[in-house]
Amino acid sequence: MSYIKIPKEWEILETQVTPESDYINRRKFIKDLGIAGAGALLFSTSTACAQNKGVEKQLRPFRSQKLAAENNTAFTVERQITDEIVAATYNNYYEFTTSKSSVWKKVGDFKARPWEVEVSGLVEKPMTIDVDDLIKQMPLEERIYRFRCVEAWAMVVPWIGFPMKALLDKVQPKADAKYVRMLTFLDPDMAPRQNSNRLPWPYYEGLTLAEAMNDLTILTVGIYGHILPPQHGAPIRLIVPWKYGFKSIKSIVSIELTDQKPRTFWNTLAPGEYDFDANVNPNVPHPRWSQASERMIGTKERLPTLMYNGYGSSVAHLY
Ligand code: MTE
Repeated sequence: MSYIKIPKEWEILETQVTPESDYINRRKFIKDLGIAGAGALLFSTSTACAQNKGVEKQLRPFRSQKLAAENNTAFTVERQITDEIVAATYNNYYEFTTSKSSVWKKVGDFKARPWEVEVSGLVEKPMTIDVDDLIKQMPLEERIYRFRCVEAWAMVVPWIGFPMKALLDKVQPKADAKYVRMLTFLDPDMAPRQNSNRLPWPYYEGLTLAEAMNDLTILTVGIYGHILPPQHGAPIRLIVPWKYGFKSIKSIVSIELTDQKPRTFWNTLAPGEYDFDANVNPNVPHPRWSQASERMIGTKERLPTLMYNGYGSSVAHLY
């Protein structure tokens, strides 16, 4: 029996990665100290500067494509909104890399347009639609949501999107439809890690039909007032704010209604760690860490984790 634990590919912990905010905070540290010749720290300072400029440049084409959407004031959050650059440089997108602080640098070959989404299965009116045509037909709004990753980091982000219910009403689920199964694109030329067969690509997720029809469940196409950049799951991704972030599948190409409970990517990889429901619950620790509190990216503030991520009044009745 071996006592040395070799982590599997998917077991990399967020704590092993230096977030962008660390670089930014280091800069602030030097400034606060007022040290003129802080030579030893200068290297990381200039790295931070270059990195910040780099992401500004990477975001420029997305920022220039504004999305008009009224803020829905029913969804306010008592926490501070995460800085856009912080959110854009701390991502989980395993199709590109397992290093959260590097996803934004690795998505250069990703093409989010043209893009089609297929809605199929147990529906009266199946359809395949170009994402921009879909956006034109859907009631876009901005919602500020708490977002909680299973790895115990969290952020608050202004998403632009529409209730998934609006799309499902359009295709008309049949009476025997019970679940919704979603798939990410499969294209190893754009997403190099899909070349490895160590993970069961493409990424797939599922919800019950009742969860998908809940008003909180949105398909998002924008963030911070503009179209989604690739690292956040362009051109269209799911957001289910009362569930751990891995349920919020990115870059969706297929939405299928079924009568069978769909398998999910993380549950297939580690059934003992990631269940189908994946509802945020501070009282149920992950087998490898506590879920009682969370670290806000950017500020590093530690806050208590809220039951259903604070959305219990809208969703607790589902369970
Ligand atoms: N979707 C796909 N296709 N691939 C992924 O690796 N990671 C998930 C989720 N959706 C993931 C995905 C996880 S673990 C999290 S926490 C969120 O995306 C991160 O979203 P963000 O990078 O926009 O913050």
